[in-house]
Parts: sequence; C-alpha cells; structure tokens
Amino acid sequence: MLDTFTLFPTEGPPPVGPLRVPSVLHLIGNTPLLEITQLSTDIPPGVRVYAKLEGFNPGGSVKDRPALCMLQKGIENGALTPDKIILDSTSGNTGIALALIGAVLGYPVELCIPANVSIERKKIISAYGAKMIFSSPMDGSDGALELCRERLQEQPERYFKPDQYFNPHNSLAHYQTTGPELWWQTKEQITHFVAGMGTGGTLMGTGRYLKEKNSDIQIVGVEPDDAFHGLEGLKHMDSSIVPGIYHEEQLDRKISVSTEDAYETVYRLGREEGVLVGQSSGAAMWAALQVAREIDRGTVVTLFPDFGDKYLSTNLWIGWKEYNQRQANARVEGTA
Ligand SMILES: Cc1ncc(COP(=O)(O)O)c(C=O)c1O
Repeated sequence: MLDTFTLFPTEGPPPVGPLRVPSVLHLIGNTPLLEITQLSTDIPPGVRVYAKLEGFNPGGSVKDRPALCMLQKGIENGALTPDKIILDSTSGNTGIALALIGAVLGYPVELCIPANVSIERKKIISAYGAKMIFSSPMDGSDGALELCRERLQEQPERYFKPDQYFNPHNSLAHYQTTGPELWWQTKEQITHFVAGMGTGGTLMGTGRYLKEKNSDIQIVGVEPDDAFHGLEGLKHMDSSIVPGIYHEEQLDRKISVSTEDAYETVYRLGREEGVLVGQSSGAAMWAALQVAREIDRGTVVTLFPDFGDKYLSTNLWIGWKEYNQRQANARVEGTA
C-alpha cells in the first residue's frame, strides 16, 4: 500500500494544515478522518467505514472542543470573570481539557477527583498546573460530584462550574465544529454517524448538524451493555442519572456493546490498523462495524474520543496478554 503514495512529498504544494498558530487553542478541532480498511474486510464492497481521530486534539481528546466552547461562552456571557476559579468534578478527558485551556487563558482550575484515578491522569492534570481535590475512592464519581457541590455552595461567587452534563454549549461545540468537519471530510456522503455516549454532547451536537444537512443520515448511539462495565467515558443510560443535554428521541438507534467486545476491538485496532485508542473507541468501532455489515451501500463514520496511552495502566491492558496468547495459538493451529 505504501508504494502507491509518497509519505513526505518533496515537490508540489505543502501539506494542508495549520503550519503556524498563535496558541495551542487554535489546534483544537480539524482532526483527521481515517479510513478503516483492515477491520472492515467482511463488510459489503459498497460500504466505507471511517473514524475521526480526536486524540489529535492538543489535550488528547474530543473534550477539548466542548471545554473550549463552555469556557468561551462563560466569558462572553459574563459568568466567567478574571477573578474566578474554574471548578468541576471530572477526572476524565474533560478535566484534562479544562486544565489545559485554563492554563492558556490564565484561569486557575480546581478539579474534584476520586483519589483512585489513574496515575497518568493525575500527572497530566498537574502538568497543566491544575489543583486536584481528592474524594474517597469508595464513593466513586458521585463522591467527587458531592465534594464539588459542597465547595460551590460554600463560596459560589469564587467559582465558575462548566457543568458539562447540563451545559448546552457542550453539544453546541459539536454542532459548530465536529458536524461541519464530517460533512466536509466525507464530501457530503456520510450516511451513518455512530458515537459513544457519556454526556451525549458529541452525538447530540454532531447529529443535529448532520440531520439538518440530510435528514436521512442515521444517528446511532453506543452504550455499555451493562451498568457494571469497563468502558471509561461511556454511560449506561438506563442505570445512570440522565444528562440534561441528552435527548434520546433524537437518536435513530442505540447499540449496546460488551466490555469484552470493546477491548478486543481496541487490541485489533492496534495490531491491524496501527491505531492505539481508548476503550470507548473500541466500543464505537465495534458498533460501527455492526452497522456497516447490515447495509449494502453507505458511508459509516464513527469517532474515536481519544488515544490509548492514558489507559496503559488500566484493566484494558490486563486482558491484552491473554488476547495475544490466543492469537499466537491460533497462528500455530493455522486458524488465524
Ligand atoms: C473517553 C471518552 N469517550 C467517550 C466520551 C463521550 O463523549 P460525550 O460526553 O460527548 O458523550 C467521553 C466523554 O467524557 C470520553 O472521555
């Protein structure tokens, strides 16, 4: 495959891209769309499958988009003034995005976090200069939420809380950026958009934009198949507090994915496509392939929220050795 194109052209126009930018915030969005070719060999020839690689955002995830939008709108409407501290209860990608953007804009950031979040996350958040306030690991993310609520109640005038689960500017970010990018990158050919649901912001905002362009485009939500799952970033809606920005009636369909299928898809993406992603991307890919197998023609697009380097010390990679061994056995037996 590689000999059919030049990786580093020495002639012709320079590659299109932001070659010079005034701040790291200008690198948010405009992420690449990758055609999935190795995992999609069993789908009909008239179907193409693509994944939007959100790990290319400067904070390493899709959450840079809504975090920037929520903070910008907060500044615009006067809720986020220069004397305020950005406060939220997220250890995940949104916390990292808020820490990064707060550093650039000059706002202090405080994040309420369960004490047992991965060491990678703690180090990344501190690298951006944000303060972490730890809640008991026994109380999970609800404990962090409660701690955050208490701090806010004590001194409401001190803080700005983006509140991604209820803030409409979360999905607005995707309506204004992710949606138009996909419409343009697929040359208006997209027929299905398949994405995981955490706050629902990605799916709601991107879905709304795409439906306005072509109401036939199918919007498919992906969720864990069980309340006790290992798919960080995703919510099992039936057993969770439903986010205020999530409107299930705007979806055409939901697909449930097991933790095992998602993890196995992550391993395959690394070995076969050369893309190392997080577990929610594995779930999204699994569901997108499911959709692709059911149709004769179409352009199925999914979104990989982040890359996999933040998860190397998590359960995701505990199963990897076993998978590798199974692959090796199958090769010996001639069934791989
Ligand atoms: C790794 C990961 N995947 C998926 C999602 C879901 O995105 P959204 O909140 O837009 O539904 C998130 C959100 O936090 C995430 O961190």
